[in-house]
Amino acid sequence: MSAKIYPVLKSAKSRALIDNDTYQKWYRESVENPERFWDKHGMRIDWFKPYTKVKNTSFTGKVSIKWFEDGITNVSYNCIDRHLKTHGDQVAIIWEGDNPYIDKKITYNELHEQVCRLANVMKKHGVKKGDRVTIYMPMVPEATYAMLACARIGAIHSVVFGGFSPDALAGRIVDCESTFVITCDEGVRGGKPVPLKENTDTAIDIAAKQHVIVNKVLVVRRTGGKTGWAPGRDLWYHQEVASVPRDCPPARMKAEDPLFILYTSGSTGKPKGVLHTTGGYLVYASMTHKYVFDYHEGDIYWCTADVGWVTGHSYIVYGPLANCATTVMFEGVPNFPDSGRFWEIIDKHKVNIFYTAPTAIRALMGAGDAFVKRSSRSSLRLLGSVGEPINPEAWEWYYNVVGDARSPIVDTWWQTETGGILITPLPGATDLKPGSATRPFFGVKPQLVDNEGAVLEGAADGNLCIIDSWPGQMRTIYGDHARFAQTYFATYKGRYFTGDGCRRDEDGYYWITGRVDDVLNVSGHRLGTAEVESALVSHHLVSEAAVVGYPHSLKGQGIYCYVSLMAGQTGTDELRQDLVKHVRKEIGPIATPDKIQFAPGLPKTRSGKIMRRILRKIAEDDFASLGDTSTLADPAVVDDLIANRQNKT
Ligand code: PRX
Repeated sequence: MSAKIYPVLKSAKSRALIDNDTYQKWYRESVENPERFWDKHGMRIDWFKPYTKVKNTSFTGKVSIKWFEDGITNVSYNCIDRHLKTHGDQVAIIWEGDNPYIDKKITYNELHEQVCRLANVMKKHGVKKGDRVTIYMPMVPEATYAMLACARIGAIHSVVFGGFSPDALAGRIVDCESTFVITCDEGVRGGKPVPLKENTDTAIDIAAKQHVIVNKVLVVRRTGGKTGWAPGRDLWYHQEVASVPRDCPPARMKAEDPLFILYTSGSTGKPKGVLHTTGGYLVYASMTHKYVFDYHEGDIYWCTADVGWVTGHSYIVYGPLANCATTVMFEGVPNFPDSGRFWEIIDKHKVNIFYTAPTAIRALMGAGDAFVKRSSRSSLRLLGSVGEPINPEAWEWYYNVVGDARSPIVDTWWQTETGGILITPLPGATDLKPGSATRPFFGVKPQLVDNEGAVLEGAADGNLCIIDSWPGQMRTIYGDHARFAQTYFATYKGRYFTGDGCRRDEDGYYWITGRVDDVLNVSGHRLGTAEVESALVSHHLVSEAAVVGYPHSLKGQGIYCYVSLMAGQTGTDELRQDLVKHVRKEIGPIATPDKIQFAPGLPKTRSGKIMRRILRKIAEDDFASLGDTSTLADPAVVDDLIANRQNKT
């Protein structure tokens, strides 16, 4: 099957930083001589003491990844101070409120003052280099100030998505033993308040039971809504920042000093604290931001992600600000007040570069073209997609209806672990194929392997590995380096295994086919089936649970739960609703189960292992091809599961 090809647009080529010849030349150099390539590009950020060593990485044995290791720098300095002389009055952040009548512009000079003041507040309350600070915030400028203030003094931030529950927040506070939390009284999304301070209070109580005591909570007043208050522990942000000096020198940080921890789901166990460090991360985030989005000075750039996810870290905050861009930060949701909101914002702020997720594109496509056509979108020059495979129909709609066939789409494949984009088109260099993330970025060496680890050459379908390091790569799992080596480098020895399936076509283009492990991708949000299962079995009426994904037209994947109840219990609709509520409470609304099937028995091998392959097939309503069920301890359970399936066609 040959896919439709969209050749590089003339308009994109004429202004692009990288054309195809340059891509080929740079790519060759980057993989043949990574030392020389990154030696040159490492200097795109400012160093207090330049590095002399570039790359020191090993994917075998204990696994060790170091880039620019003897260099000294500071991320906040690079994102703010170095721009002040020439661009102090340039807008750094355009903040667009949930309410369409509220917005705010923050210049680089103002950003400097805000970040310095907050850094001084943290110092005043005892936060030191290497301490972990949890940021549980909505999409307000203070979330960015908080990240940069941590970077300024060398504290390690752990941003927890504002949609996570108190339990999930507590788990993340406990894992990294964070004693300082920054939050808001309430967030606002789609006109509705989100009780962030109340959730924080609950989380702190849960953490205390596990002997992690949060000493200070800094609270931004966003809505003025009523919140509980612990005197001595809770501090109002606005009062604190007003009472400290407006300058704070940036700490001298080694390139390999930690910058942040970001928790993400894996196929087993609790979410992992993915650790990123200072120098390599910033070089990679800023470099990819510049070339993938073909960023030119003066461009208005908008990434619709939340700062609670890696996309927000690398492509709302660190990449754009290191490049002295104007970055848009949106507090709200795509369909409030109505489904025209994104396009209105593009016109209002004259956005040139727009980066969003397939799940949003599909939802807005479903709302109809009229919402799009109400706007001009004449400022748009480039469109981006991230988070999950984009189906060709959604791609075509994005390209033709949103982009009026004038703007290339960069379908960017990457992960929390990779720090920045690894496989992507470059707008002036790469012919596009809808649904393909196309070709590797500079320095990235993909490899496809079969299940036994044999390397697949040419056009092939297999498991996606990366065989050499790039500067933005995660360095470890916080507090558990052995798990890091085991999770990513043991499946296919000496190679970084992404967990994704992938096809390479005859043109060398990569097509990500989705996760091949027990990780779900629901509306672009990553969730472990094990997390949802453990939430379900923590309900007092549940004895066992197995969770799988199934294709969902809007969310990409939906969550299908098989639940066995305690003896004597019957599955009712009421219990179903209660279980949904319970999972939302344990993890958060992003984990809301779509289907719950009560199952008196689950298909298990004689050694007791649940056969997920069978459960997946039933959830997909594809039970004609269940494969071999003869190894099951009790083959009869399958008939019952099929008879009671929730996805009947
Ligand atoms: O399965 C891939 C999918 O999202 C996973 C990474 O999720 P997370 O760490 O939350 O980071 C998301 C944002 C970078 C990947 O393993 N994924 C991400 N981008 C794409 C994608 N799948 C297909 N195409 C993409 N462009």
